[in-house]
Amino acid sequence: MAIADRADAVPTKGAVSRDIFTTRLGVIAATLGSAVGLGNIWKFPYLTGANGGAAFIIIYLLCTLVVGLPVMITEHMIGRAAREDAIATLKKLAPGKSWWLIGASGILAAFLIMAFYTEVAAWVFAYIVKAVQGAVLSTDPAVTEAAFAELITSPVQSLVWQWVVLAFIASIIALGVSKGIERMTKRLMPALFTILVIVCIRSITLPGSWQGLEFLLKPDFSKVTGATVLTAMGLAFFKLSVGMGTMITYGSYFLEDQDLPATATRVMLSDLAVSFLCGLAIFPAVFAFGFQPESGPSLLFITIPAVFSSMPFGQIFMILFFILAAIAATGAMLSLFEVPVAYLEGTLNWSRKKATVAVLVGLALVGSTAALSNSLLAHVVFPGVGTFFDLWDYLTSNILLPLGGLFLSLFAGRVLKWDNIKTWLTNKSTLQNEGAARAFYFVVRFVTPVLIFIILLSGLNVF
Ligand code: TRP
Repeated sequence: MAIADRADAVPTKGAVSRDIFTTRLGVIAATLGSAVGLGNIWKFPYLTGANGGAAFIIIYLLCTLVVGLPVMITEHMIGRAAREDAIATLKKLAPGKSWWLIGASGILAAFLIMAFYTEVAAWVFAYIVKAVQGAVLSTDPAVTEAAFAELITSPVQSLVWQWVVLAFIASIIALGVSKGIERMTKRLMPALFTILVIVCIRSITLPGSWQGLEFLLKPDFSKVTGATVLTAMGLAFFKLSVGMGTMITYGSYFLEDQDLPATATRVMLSDLAVSFLCGLAIFPAVFAFGFQPESGPSLLFITIPAVFSSMPFGQIFMILFFILAAIAATGAMLSLFEVPVAYLEGTLNWSRKKATVAVLVGLALVGSTAALSNSLLAHVVFPGVGTFFDLWDYLTSNILLPLGGLFLSLFAGRVLKWDNIKTWLTNKSTLQNEGAARAFYFVVRFVTPVLIFIILLSGLNVF
């Protein structure tokens, strides 16, 4: 269906019609494209490694189910109901109240997440080139560690690769929602899945891989602290791209007949599947080659090359793997970039090009703090957190997103009326999903906000 037909059906502000997603598959692909990203390939494995394995995964799963999923449904629901950017949505649904501040904090979060995210994406892009050159192919931890250190401690390489990433994302954003975001993501997700399965098979069949499987499957709760639980909840927010308005913005591009609870559930399950595949690709190899599971953000970049070095046609697979990681990161970065752009375009009436350029410049500035955090700015260390890179990561996942999620769940459970929620989630009773709508309303009222509140306070050592 052409965009023009669809756009007619969408309530718009003034005479400007909104560019929205054109097919249901496109909606799932773009939403999944936002959720799946470096969070699965890089963050999930490194946090799982650093926080003890299976026990962390179980807590993360619970948080995804009772915190991440309800917040995602909330965001899609209010976004589609208002069909505005994140700030305007809350202003429209709660006129004269302060709830729009959730959207404002979301725009801040988008910038801060992009600051470190583009840097990790920069490493991924650089690794495509390194893989082509064959430079990082080795099963010796010392060699792959040194190759990674060489990249991140070079200010020039870090900055230039970050700019390459930013310029690439901005050029897709400038094309618009359906032609840019939707078309990209629909093609790339299946390819990612396939290559991951191949890498998993290699990793699991390495001699000594069973220790990695045990690490992933045998929980040991003895080392779990409040901070661990907060990290797991932060990951649940980060993974599903919720708590800061991305999903409100995407919800505003959804079709009127989209089944929202079903869509969110499908996205959540697929996203979990990708994370587990990434865990299976990485941990058996970590133990097989004698790497340290708790090595932190560098984990992906020092273990994955070792896996590839140990398999036939490894170089080709490694090139493919990092290309796909770059693609996954692209879908996620598009959704982050879109939040401030949608605001400048919608509320301030800027042209899409002007908004894109302004956001690009802002991101390059904030991002440079993360890009240089292992070189020129390595001496700037925040106690208990780490460098600028770590600070932005910590601040967004562990504070801004949970706070955004807390207020969004309060908004859904306390401010919105059940009648409205029922109408929005059942698409005016055209869907047979009232049971799901009721379950959502119960959880978002009585479970989600309470849990976020407790985990946030205990994670921050308030009690
Ligand atoms: N979910 C993405 C990932 O896992 C990252 C991401 C995209 C994100 N948009 C977001 C995280 C919005 C938080 C909020 O890689």
